[in-house]
Amino acid sequence: MKKTAKNKVALITGITGQDGSFLTEFLLKKGYEVHGIIRRASTFNTSRLAKIYQDPHEKDRKLFLIHGDLADAENIRKIIYTVKPNEIYNLGAQSHVRVSFDIPEYTANVTGLGALRILEAIKDFQDHTGQKIKFYQASSSEMFGASPAPQNETTPLRPQSPYGIAKVFAYNATKLYREAYGIFAVNGILFNHESERRGETFVTRKITRAVARIKAGLDKKLYLGNLDARRDWGYAPEYMEAAWLMMQQPKPDDYVIGTGETHSVREFVELAFKEAGLKDYKKYIGIDPRYYRPAEVQNLVADAAKAGKVLKWKPKTKFADLVKIMVKADANPKKI
Ligand code: NAP
Ligand code: GDD
Repeated sequence: MKKTAKNKVALITGITGQDGSFLTEFLLKKGYEVHGIIRRASTFNTSRLAKIYQDPHEKDRKLFLIHGDLADAENIRKIIYTVKPNEIYNLGAQSHVRVSFDIPEYTANVTGLGALRILEAIKDFQDHTGQKIKFYQASSSEMFGASPAPQNETTPLRPQSPYGIAKVFAYNATKLYREAYGIFAVNGILFNHESERRGETFVTRKITRAVARIKAGLDKKLYLGNLDARRDWGYAPEYMEAAWLMMQQPKPDDYVIGTGETHSVREFVELAFKEAGLKDYKKYIGIDPRYYRPAEVQNLVADAAKAGKVLKWKPKTKFADLVKIMVKADANPKKI
């Protein structure tokens, strides 16, 4: 029997992250049963799922959370054999580029080898049961590194960070398992995507949060690093729809997802302060070398023509609207 979205089962690693929470909402709306891997922590780490959390005692529930870790192959394998998903979205990662210079080995283990652990488990599962599992790898524009913009699916990968190197490993593993074993495995090469749920130490959220605190008189200054770096920033929920679309194609392939527009960190800062009615942003900004990276990705611009043509995917939220959404949300934290 062909499964419709109504009776499909998805397994998501990184469900507690920005993208994981948006993807879960999207899949639940489509009628999927969603299982997500969460890490055991001494504090609650499921705040982004608060709106959709279903109590384990609820009847007919569609959202299930399981403890696990991408560093633990046996646990990943056990979860896959138990859940028997139709689709796996591997969004879990040590995802902070600057932090990857401090903990390169851990980053390689989780962000790089984590994908390989899942692919190996899928291969065995398919061999033993005959049931197919589709695999989505959260690849990144950080893999392009020093390659000049615009970047597309054929641009050489020249990573500039331990995180970028780990993502290249996972990207290549995904391609290899597709070509060598016929697994339906896709790479979504996503450019930076942000939202009101973005982690507080990524630059956009760090800025919009600081704007709200400065406006409220709680802080006086915001310390940043390289203001000249340029990024192609889009709105996260739209990117998760693109991820799902990749998994619904007749054949597995790799796709670049981005807006095709680039802006500097400085432009983001300027617009965010202006949006909050704070004139002369320079008054509030300090530069702290600790936020510079040993190597930097200077300019990212997506050429997402392939996604437009094959997936019929187009970005909707423009840069100025994104800044507006994030500034507004941080000014009204209860509404996030
Ligand atoms: P995020 O908010 O940092 O979320 C990362 C998720 O991975 C969290 O759920 C985190 O759990 C989980 N995780 C971390 N270490 C883990 C481990 N050892 N085992 C299992 N789970 C672990 O990242 P995001 O922005 O949603 O991004 C999602 C994915 O897309 C990541 O792989 C990222 O590298 C990639 N990506 C992101 C962008 C972007 O611009 N957002 C662009 C390209 C690619 P905790 O909540 O417990 O920390
Ligand atoms: N985080 C941070 N903090 N970045 C700063 C700061 C600061 O105080 N000051 C300047 N920047 C610059 C960084 O040097 C970088 O050039 C740019 O702002 C964006 O930094 P991040 O927001 O940390 O994102 P990223 O581009 O390094 O990585 C994000 O996007 C990748 C896709 O290209 C992450 O989401 C990765 O997981 C993702 O793969």
